[in-house]
Amino acid sequence: MAFSRVQLSVAIIFLAACLQVQGRSEVETSLGAASSLVQTNCRPGEDLTVVQGQTPHLPNGIPAFTVMISNTCQTGCNISNIHLHCGWFSSAILVNPKIFRRLAYNDCLVNDGQPLKSGSTLQFRYANSRSYPLSISSMRCG
Ligand SMILES: *[C@@H]1O[C@H](CO)[C@@H](O)[C@H](O)[C@H]1NC(C)=O
Repeated sequence: MAFSRVQLSVAIIFLAACLQVQGRSEVETSLGAASSLVQTNCRPGEDLTVVQGQTPHLPNGIPAFTVMISNTCQTGCNISNIHLHCGWFSSAILVNPKIFRRLAYNDCLVNDGQPLKSGSTLQFRYANSRSYPLSISSMRCG
């Protein structure tokens, strides 16, 4: 006995729907049981903020800037795989590559891709004739 293509795809859709329902009820159960909510998605700009400001220039006159990347998630979410738009970011002083490094044009990786814990801030200083606009390009919740 052979299943027709239509029967097979109906069966697959049915299975997928079952799995989805099951997955959702598991999430609901764990949310109901936990005292603090586990957030399933983090919002750039609200849960993760990037600010920079000018700091005293280097002795040789090159302007310096301090960048602060903060996880401000109120529900305890950790944020990892943070990538920023960063143009051709470069610095006249060493920036710890584990904290911030450019992978490609306009793609800089934060914290070596590791999670930035809820409530924590990463800070680094760089120097260049002018600042690079830095903004969140992508991130992963968890
Ligand atoms: C965030 O990371 C910390 C330390 O690794 C861990 O204890 C905590 O459970 C994590 N929070 C979430 C919501 O996964």
